[in-house]
Amino acid sequence: MTSIRNEGPLQQSVLVNAQIATMGPSATPYGLIEGGAVAIENNKVTWCGPLADMPQPFEPWRQRNLEGRLVTPALVDCHTHIVHAGNRAKEFEMRLNGATYEDIARAGGGIVSTVTATRAASEDELFASAAPRVEDLIAEGVCTLEIKSGYGLDFETELKMLRVARRIGAHYPIRVRTTFLGAHATPEAYKGYDDRYIDEVCIPALEAAQAEGLVDAVDGFCESIGFTPDQIKRVFSKAKDLGLPVKLHAEQLSNLGGAALAAHYNALSADHLEYLDDAGVSAMARSGTIPVLLPSAYYFLRDTQPPPIQSFRDAGLPMAIATDCNPGSSPMTSLLLAMNMACTLFRMTPEEALAGTTRNAAAALGLKDTGIIAPGFRADLAIWNAQHPAELSYGIGINCLHDRIFGGAV
Ligand code: NIG
Ligand code: FE
Repeated sequence: MTSIRNEGPLQQSVLVNAQIATMGPSATPYGLIEGGAVAIENNKVTWCGPLADMPQPFEPWRQRNLEGRLVTPALVDCHTHIVHAGNRAKEFEMRLNGATYEDIARAGGGIVSTVTATRAASEDELFASAAPRVEDLIAEGVCTLEIKSGYGLDFETELKMLRVARRIGAHYPIRVRTTFLGAHATPEAYKGYDDRYIDEVCIPALEAAQAEGLVDAVDGFCESIGFTPDQIKRVFSKAKDLGLPVKLHAEQLSNLGGAALAAHYNALSADHLEYLDDAGVSAMARSGTIPVLLPSAYYFLRDTQPPPIQSFRDAGLPMAIATDCNPGSSPMTSLLLAMNMACTLFRMTPEEALAGTTRNAAAALGLKDTGIIAPGFRADLAIWNAQHPAELSYGIGINCLHDRIFGGAV
């Protein structure tokens, strides 16, 4: 585990001589400010604009010359299963020998095989195995990270995963948002009794996790190899009773109307969405449910039907992008690569890709204080050895991060 430098709050400082992609509302693409400055006080941005317009009171503040580098909001990875044990390289091999993702899941592999490994791991072991993956994301300028449970599928392990997620947030200079994903798959012991699993394990575990302060949102996997809309509904009703926002893995492999169901519960996001239809897009637009696109899962499972990007644009739905870091469908720890894939595979623009990992990813987590550079927002910033923001989506496996500022701290 490498150590990550934390020099403490800057108190009052100004970044000068920067290209600033604010990603805020602006007539200019990326909200770009050339020759810009960002004033930071404690953990917040207090001013941002062209250096020539900087108000006099900021002039004596400690200045840091960025020598023309690009500054963006720090990245937000809004969908991960980064806490898990083991890997599924053997299943990767099986798929290359002809099996499908669904075949493997039905034969007791897939999510359930990661469950076996995750149940056997201690909290310390889970933390240690997640650490290098978290460090990869931090090294790419990620300051906010969503982490799901869902590889426990029993009372103890679901809570164990969420405790590890909280511990990651306490240990690293990164903000962690936890998501309870008890309705991810049916464990071996309940095979054929999905309803009983929901009632006897999933819902009680959610209640216990919430009582322990471990849950920020509730998710499910609505799919033929996951749960039916009716079963998801029961989990969402409980989430609502507990005052927790919901989100859903929907329309990844088929169309069960999951996104519309999520929208009915005012979900923060519906994720994957390759098989979403027009009715689903309209339902999401009505509720303001953010589409979270996961191009690496699409890539890794060799899907051929991309999500309906143009329909999202037409509906005015802001799109988010995430790594979906998980051992089965997306063993990837690069949000920059996800941006590149969103452009190459889904034909999103580099500006949409950056909005998708900053402003819109923050919205997909219900966060209103990060994801753009503007006064009053957290000083969560990424400084890049780049001149133009399109470079971030353009590179394949190129990490041009120069520095990362988390809540004002370098
Ligand atoms: O987001 N779709 C369901 N869950 C994960 C995959 C989990 C797994 O295969 O382990 C996903 O793709
Ligand atoms: Fe996922």
